[in-house]
Amino acid sequence: MPELAGVSFRDPFVIASGIVPNHPELIRQFCHLYGPAGVTTKSFTLNPLDPHPPPTVFKLGDGCYINAIGLSNPGRDGLREINVPCRVIYSIAGSSPEEFGQLASLVPKGHLVELNLSSPNRRGLGESVAPMVREIVREVVGATQNPVLVKLGPWDNVIDLAGRALEAGAKGLTLINTVKGMAIDVYERRPILTYTTGGVSGKCIHHLAVRIVAQVFKEYQADVIGVGGVYSWEDAAELMLAGAKLVGVGTAIIDRGPRVLTQIREGFGKFLDKKGINATELVGAGVR
Ligand SMILES: Cc1cc2nc3c(=O)[nH]c(=O)nc-3n(C[C@H](O)[C@H](O)[C@H](O)COP(=O)(O)O)c2cc1C
Repeated sequence: MPELAGVSFRDPFVIASGIVPNHPELIRQFCHLYGPAGVTTKSFTLNPLDPHPPPTVFKLGDGCYINAIGLSNPGRDGLREINVPCRVIYSIAGSSPEEFGQLASLVPKGHLVELNLSSPNRRGLGESVAPMVREIVREVVGATQNPVLVKLGPWDNVIDLAGRALEAGAKGLTLINTVKGMAIDVYERRPILTYTTGGVSGKCIHHLAVRIVAQVFKEYQADVIGVGGVYSWEDAAELMLAGAKLVGVGTAIIDRGPRVLTQIREGFGKFLDKKGINATELVGAGVR
């Protein structure tokens, strides 16, 4: 059984943040029907946030999306224990170390806390606070006994930021968030998303994720959840070979429906059986 930051998972496949809405009943249904080892909540902020005006999601091409939903969520009141037959990873997003500390102290005991320092879609949150990674992690580690993961984006300084997160007490990393991009309507001569920029996700960022997971793993041998364009068991295995212990599935669920999870799990299981190995043997084996 894979273990990440001291927490065991029944298999390596979890749902990435922002895919299942922050509604206990929906999270429960996802766990029951599609059997992920864990569901990451959409990032919680202290106060409720509405989505940006539509359009907020746009399909760019085969398996490739851009979104600027803007971290809409019910705020701190939604941070409750959710009784489900899979793990829940609580994602939180604040604008300062103190806000992160406050949010972290509200996460129920015994769950992983993922700090969103990387969403590109809401000014003052996500990637805007990444430079404060050390202060944020220190504050959070002081505010909760839960293991802390830091979610980073595909930036040039990601290796440095990952090191600072781990030094400050993070038990693991989630890599990567969406890549900030823009799509322009050539007839209307204006950006397609109302927010103008958005986060690119899906197949077109997969190999960026593989490279970043590999580089960070080589540098720190940290516990990593690899996320980015996982559509098939091969994509998942690739992220594990790069160093990920768990793999997060995001856009593929929106694009292909949640049964894609079952297909990934089954394909991966067959691959392991055929090779006579277990999932942990793959972790980092492609980049040693
Ligand atoms: C519609 C949508 C909403 C998202 N919301 C969040 C969020 O609230 N917090 C977060 O950390 N990441 C969020 N993400 C990023 C995903 O968790 C993931 O890191 C990213 O999409 C790359 O994985 P993918 O290519 O499998 O989608 C969101 C992604 C999408 C597509």
